[in-house]
Amino acid sequence: MKIEVVRGDITRIAADAIVNAANTSLLGGGGVDGAIHRAGGPAILEDCRKIIARQGGCKTGEAVITGAGDLPAKYVIHTVGPVWNGGTHGEEEKLASCYRNSLQLARDHQCCTVTFPNISTGIYHFPKEKAAAIAVRAVQSFLAGQPAGINVIFVCFDEENYSLLKAELKIGH
Ligand code: APR
Repeated sequence: MKIEVVRGDITRIAADAIVNAANTSLLGGGGVDGAIHRAGGPAILEDCRKIIARQGGCKTGEAVITGAGDLPAKYVIHTVGPVWNGGTHGEEEKLASCYRNSLQLARDHQCCTVTFPNISTGIYHFPKEKAAAIAVRAVQSFLAGQPAGINVIFVCFDEENYSLLKAELKIGH
C-alpha cells in the first residue's frame, strides 16, 4: 500500500481506476468531470446513462463505476462531492464518504492503482486545506483495514492542492 501525490492532469496518468468528481446527474459537467468525459469519449456517458436508467443518478457522498473509454484505465469511478455550504451541512463527513465509497468500489473490482482528483475543491468550493486533511485521513484509514494493497495517487491540478497534500502526507518540498 502506497499513497503518492503528483501534480498534473488526471486524464493522462495510467491507473486501474480514475476517480471523477461528478455531480448527482452523472451527465458530465466542467472541471475534472468535463476533462474525463472529453478525454475518455462517449463510452463513459453511455455507461452513465445505464446507471441513470437503473438508479436515477448518484447521491452526494456515494460512488458508481463505469468503463473508462479511451482513458488509460479500466474504470472510472464517479463520486459526488458535497457543495461547500458553510460546513454545517455534513460536508466533511460526505467528503470522507466519497473517498471511502470510491475505494470500496475499486477494491471490489480488484483495482491495484487508483487516482483521485481533489474532490469538491473546484466548482463546489470546499476549503482546500480542510479537504486535503479529510482526503488523507479517509484514504489512510481505509487502506489500513485492507489486506490486499491498493496504491492511491492524488493527482493535483493546482499548486495549492499539491502543496497541501504533500504537507498532509509529510512529503518533503
Ligand atoms: N486533472 C486533475 N484535477 C483537475 C483537472 C484535471 N484534468 N481539472 C480540474 N481539476 C481539479 C480542480 O483544480 C479541483 O482541485 O479538480 C478539483 C475538483 O474541481 P472540480 O472539477 O470543479 O470538481 P468539484 O469542485 O468537485 O465540483 C463538481 O463540477 O463540473 C462539475 O460535474 C461536476 O458539477 C460537478 C462539479
